[in-house]
Amino acid sequence: MNLTILAGSSNRSLAEAVAGQLGTTLGSVGIYRFPDGELHLEVQQSIRGDDVFLVQSTSPPVDSNLLELLLLADACRRAGAARLTAVIPYFGYARQDRRATGREPVSARVVADLLQVSGLRRVVAVDLHSPVLEGFFWVPFEHLTAVPTLADTVRPIVTSKSVVVAPDLGAARLADTYAHLLHLPVAIVHKTRVSGEAVSVTGITGAVRGRAPIIVDDMISTGGTIEAATRALLSSGCLPDISVVATHAVLVGTALQRLSSLPVQRLIVSNSVEQPATLSPLIQTVSLGTLLAEAIGRLHRDESLEDLLVHR
Ligand code: R5P
Repeated sequence: MNLTILAGSSNRSLAEAVAGQLGTTLGSVGIYRFPDGELHLEVQQSIRGDDVFLVQSTSPPVDSNLLELLLLADACRRAGAARLTAVIPYFGYARQDRRATGREPVSARVVADLLQVSGLRRVVAVDLHSPVLEGFFWVPFEHLTAVPTLADTVRPIVTSKSVVVAPDLGAARLADTYAHLLHLPVAIVHKTRVSGEAVSVTGITGAVRGRAPIIVDDMISTGGTIEAATRALLSSGCLPDISVVATHAVLVGTALQRLSSLPVQRLIVSNSVEQPATLSPLIQTVSLGTLLAEAIGRLHRDESLEDLLVHR
């Protein structure tokens, strides 16, 4: 069966790198807007009988990128793709996986339903906010992790004074995984979310005084979580040598300025969300190209993904 890689517009450079590592090029897709703003796209080559992988992050503009993915899946299904897999390096809406208050939607569930009715028959994602998302899908869901690759990038800066820090309770298991890979102790910041942009810290569990924190999280959006954790760590006597590691650098609004105003020495992230051509010197980007190409190659050949998956 022929392997075809197609991409929406969210993260072309990553999709091209993935296709390149698989010894192919991206298939041709035309994406347009009608004068009234409606999205229209067209797969510009035959994909009948192909094993098709659609690479698209649902990063900002989230709804537009999500709709591209849904329409692309429908186009592929109608064009006779034999197998159809979405590869979603950054999965938007993943944080809305439950009702926090009354009369809210479970938006992640709605997105899961939309992806499945569009014709996708398998989904691949990376370091989701919560692994419960897999249960929202009845199609096979492969949850890959970039953590070993990110930990390899952090390793050279680890010293005997380093400590891995979870900036909230939700990141505690992730911090455990990094601590295990880097042979470091763990501390946990206790956070309460005040609004979409603001969080407050109520305490820290674990020793941070005189230590150099490596704060780990699945994603950075507004930077509020990292800022609050950093200030709490400094108040608790940590060294002004702070590193931040996160898979998904969504970095909305003034997030980068927010982090630059703190004694954060380095920000290590993946390219699941496409970054501007000129990057802040603070940011070190690790490519997901090899991980995604390996996963796609194995799925195409019906081989195990065991060592590439999240086991948290
Ligand atoms: C939430 O629990 C996540 O793991 C992140 O900590 C959070 O979503 C990051 O968002 P922000 O950067 O806006 O605080």
